[in-house]
Amino acid sequence: MDDLNKPSQVDSQDQTQSRDSQRRIQSLIKLLADGQFHSGQSLAETLHISRTAVWKMIEKLKQWQIVIFSVRGKGYKIDKGLMLLDQAKIDQALTGKTQFFSRLVCLPSIDSTSSYIAREWQKSPGQPLVCVAEHQTKGRGRKGRKWISPFASNLYFSLGFNLPFGLHALGGLSLAIGICMARVLNQMTLPSVKLKWPNDLLIEGKKLAGILVEASGDKIDNSFINIGIGLNWRMASEQAIDQEWCNLTDYLTGKVDRNELLIQILLELDQCLQIYCRDGFDSFSKQWRDYSAFIDQPICIETRQGKVLGKELGINSNGAIRVMTDSGESIFYSGEVSLRPA
Ligand code: BTN
Repeated sequence: MDDLNKPSQVDSQDQTQSRDSQRRIQSLIKLLADGQFHSGQSLAETLHISRTAVWKMIEKLKQWQIVIFSVRGKGYKIDKGLMLLDQAKIDQALTGKTQFFSRLVCLPSIDSTSSYIAREWQKSPGQPLVCVAEHQTKGRGRKGRKWISPFASNLYFSLGFNLPFGLHALGGLSLAIGICMARVLNQMTLPSVKLKWPNDLLIEGKKLAGILVEASGDKIDNSFINIGIGLNWRMASEQAIDQEWCNLTDYLTGKVDRNELLIQILLELDQCLQIYCRDGFDSFSKQWRDYSAFIDQPICIETRQGKVLGKELGINSNGAIRVMTDSGESIFYSGEVSLRPA
């Protein structure tokens, strides 16, 4: 099973083996997702593999942070079961309805959905592709941080697409994506989702989701965009994360299926990209005040040059943050923002 997370530059025999092992492990997860006990023997028979192979796959699932009970005489069980992503359901809901997300792959485990898109683009540059995964072994956050990605606990997905603008015209794209995500989530959560510049999503000051934007291209009329989004759904509290964070399920006002949520987000993001291509960032920048977690509040922005204290005034037409400092208004294009205690 060790080939499950291999990079895609492997020969065709390895690729076939990898696809086979992906299929087998997906079948095993589907069987166990019901939260009932399954004996090693019955799993082996259903999957047409040996009991040792079942045991090896169970060990792999434990590495993916799935909690599996094994009880002698009863077999294996995932307590409370799993709500799995369902590629067929997502494909069916999106087919013919999006301009940017015509191809989607849903994987049980990958190093990083953003790295997957980057590798696919080495083979077919700029081809639109959405990669969704249940688990990431090397999930990446902004500024080289890790993104903790336990199995079936959250949403991890990356959107790869091409835009007919040069890189200079992309100012604010990631903020537009954040605004759109917050809009979707606010239809189902209380209290509301807010944005911490540039694109962290927060509820009650705790991080709910993050957006990683990677772009390449030219200065005139072509850019390749790879947007990775991680959204906490129902992650166990013992995860070692060095900031305050929360799960969406703690704030849902109704019952929501993880697949439905992803479908809603992708449909909205597609609309958002269409508006961005047609009208630019303008209509989004006007909405920032409604979504900013720290608008008109005292903040600290940590830049490469050091810390700057001031009050958040909003953003400019390129998505840069405006801060009123003791020496007047300053504009920042990058930096880490935090709220200053009163
Ligand atoms: C942040 O630091 O706030 C950005 C986090 C982005 C995490 C997502 S999860 C899906 C995609 N794949 C990755 O490796 N990172 C992004």
